[in-house]
Amino acid sequence: MPAKGLQNIVVGETRHSLVEGEKGQLVFQGYEIQDLAQHAAFEEVAYLLWYGQKPSAEQGHALRAEMAQHRSLPSGVINVLRALPASTEPMDALRTGVSALGAVNPGTNIDLAHAVSLTAQVASLIAVFHRLRHGLEIIPPREDLDHGSNYLYMITGSEPTAAQRAMMNVYLVLLADHGMNASTFTARVIASTGSDLYSAVTGAIGALKGPLHGGAPRKVLDMLDAIGTAENAETWIRDALARKERLMGFGHRVYKTTDPRAEILRETARTYSEPAFFRLAQTVEERALEILHEKKPDQRLYTNVEFYSAAVMHAVGLPRDLFTATFAASRTAGWTAHILEQAADNRLIRPDVDYVGPTGLKWNAS
Ligand code: ACO
Repeated sequence: MPAKGLQNIVVGETRHSLVEGEKGQLVFQGYEIQDLAQHAAFEEVAYLLWYGQKPSAEQGHALRAEMAQHRSLPSGVINVLRALPASTEPMDALRTGVSALGAVNPGTNIDLAHAVSLTAQVASLIAVFHRLRHGLEIIPPREDLDHGSNYLYMITGSEPTAAQRAMMNVYLVLLADHGMNASTFTARVIASTGSDLYSAVTGAIGALKGPLHGGAPRKVLDMLDAIGTAENAETWIRDALARKERLMGFGHRVYKTTDPRAEILRETARTYSEPAFFRLAQTVEERALEILHEKKPDQRLYTNVEFYSAAVMHAVGLPRDLFTATFAASRTAGWTAHILEQAADNRLIRPDVDYVGPTGLKWNAS
């Protein structure tokens, strides 16, 4: 019997991240995620993933400067974004934007320089599309700001506060990589055919946007809005489960305990969110876990990264339809690190499948 959804199937080796689902542990290149969230800047984590080692202060500054220099978008790509209807979903605009970047960089090799520039430009694509869809002037990037702060600056036109910077950095660090998740696998499959970096990331964006992967955080916020008050939580959750709906922000293919990123983001939300909002989120989390454990005791369903990602991005002030695209702004570092790893020791990824259809039919049979 094949493993449905490739559960527990090991498809290769990576040095980038270790996901220990039973222990609730996440490690990037040997460093615990808690350590990185507390001490590292997003650009340093990107360096860690791309180069396989912690940067010196000088190396960290150099990478930050290199990313900052690549934030501008070619005018042809801006024109593609301009041509999209204002109602376009930001993830669709981002997918189109990365594809357009590929079109204006034909024949691009899979190399580190393009991994760096694309990671810088993904944040710009989201911000520029956001400005265009609202009929606002495009804000040119600033080289003196870090990746997360510049992203917020290009969206709003104002320098972020210290609290916004801190939240953004923790979020970007935590989401930068995560083992063989669906979007990373997609990117590696595309890279394995000898295709280019932009195609691989375009495919990864398509995989990330689904609600079973990165599309959940907006729905978490919609759920919190629909629940409205702590007193409503239990009835709302029971009704949703009775309708066979999934509770967004809970359950994970690998983690059979709380996702360590959710624990860090819960504390970030506790520090920075409006207290009434945080109390609502925490009550919903507690009731959801109680009811999921009561209804599906064998499934070991716990809080995943998306639940408090939604709370933190809400506290940052990002519109909810940018949540998944912001996830992509972080994960591009991990995707490109995996694409480089795949290209460095490549063999075409081409699994097999059991045929269960009919045999022996004749086209011209009467
Ligand atoms: N709410 C209710 N029931 C759930 C949930 C949930 N959030 N998650 C899993 N289940 C149940 C399923 O209904 C199923 O129950 P059944 O056997 O009684 O039918 C059982 O648990 C197993 O579900 P699968 O889909 O086989 O589990 P899988 O490991 O494939 O799913 C997934 C993981 C997709 C994340 C799932 O937990 C889910 O849909 N969660 C909600 C969406 C979400 O939060 N997505 C973000 C994921 S994190 C990330 O990708 C960054």
